[in-house]
Amino acid sequence: MARYFRQVKYFMNNNNPDLSVCIAGVKFSNPVIAASGTFGYGKEYAGMVNAAELGGVCTKGLTLKARTGNKGVRIWETPSGLLNSIGLENPGIKHFIRHELPALREMGAVVIANLSGATIEEYTEGAALLNGTSIDMIELNISCPNVRDGGMAFGLDPARAASVVAPVRKACSKPLIVKLSPNAPDIKAVAAACVNKGADALSVVNTFTGMAIDIKKRAPVFNNITAGLSGPAIRPIALRITWELAAAVNVPVIGLGGIASACDALEFLMAGAAAVEVGAATFCHPQTMIEIIEGIKGYMIENSVSCLNELKIKRQQ
Ligand SMILES: Cc1cc2nc3c(=O)[nH]c(=O)nc-3n(C[C@H](O)[C@H](O)[C@H](O)COP(=O)(O)O)c2cc1C
Repeated sequence: MARYFRQVKYFMNNNNPDLSVCIAGVKFSNPVIAASGTFGYGKEYAGMVNAAELGGVCTKGLTLKARTGNKGVRIWETPSGLLNSIGLENPGIKHFIRHELPALREMGAVVIANLSGATIEEYTEGAALLNGTSIDMIELNISCPNVRDGGMAFGLDPARAASVVAPVRKACSKPLIVKLSPNAPDIKAVAAACVNKGADALSVVNTFTGMAIDIKKRAPVFNNITAGLSGPAIRPIALRITWELAAAVNVPVIGLGGIASACDALEFLMAGAAAVEVGAATFCHPQTMIEIIEGIKGYMIENSVSCLNELKIKRQQ
């Protein structure tokens, strides 16, 4: 009899693996999340991507007041990558709450508000405003390389990261993900400081600081000189950081950076990520995230994996 039940369980798991994941008490139907700044507020992809099929949608970076973003060139293709210098263009948190959130909420995926600011006060006030809404989680962006004040400046150093995470934690009761910068000299120390001040999860990574020069003009391409590099070029480094942080902290780690296929996503899940975010790949092929979800499911069926946790590589103590 026991053998029969084992067989039934095997059959059920094998054909219907559980792709759901719970992060800080929030249940995602699958581990694939649209990364901030690459999926707008969801409606931009209406008719192309059914957001209800995604695990979650992370909004474009939001700030207390509307921002027009950076002048000049904002996007520059590189081999296997993309440099961007958007500068956090967004309509402001109040506008988001009134005009974007209702439709995004209706789409059915977990809603994560990506929050940025130039000062600690701006971050804190923004968190308090978002706390009174129906969003599911906040992703605190202390890693944007494309703004002069705030952003990545808070994410490079453990003490500065703690100085913003602590008051934001106090200002809101929503589950808090902190998005870290790969440009930090010691990202493990920054991660520890964030967790110590109340981060419920971490997402790694935001973009790497890079630059490009226009040889015809003999001048830097971007007005800010530097910009943020994303795409497949950064994937092996993002994977290494995910692997290291997953072992170093006791909160879930969300992995991202150059994920463009189910195989890429599986590498991050095996490295210990609880979920993944997909960014620049959606620009090339809007269906990427849907295909990744199907691909993860297919892999799990083929390899008799019943839940995501089983994918994680077991490490020697
Ligand atoms: C055009 C563009 C805009 C972005 N805007 C934001 C943002 O507002 N907030 C944020 O935390 N990350 C932002 N990012 C970073 C992505 O969310 C992601 O961390 C990074 O691109 C690495 O993932 P990828 O290689 O899959 O794109 C942006 C990336 C791109 C390409």
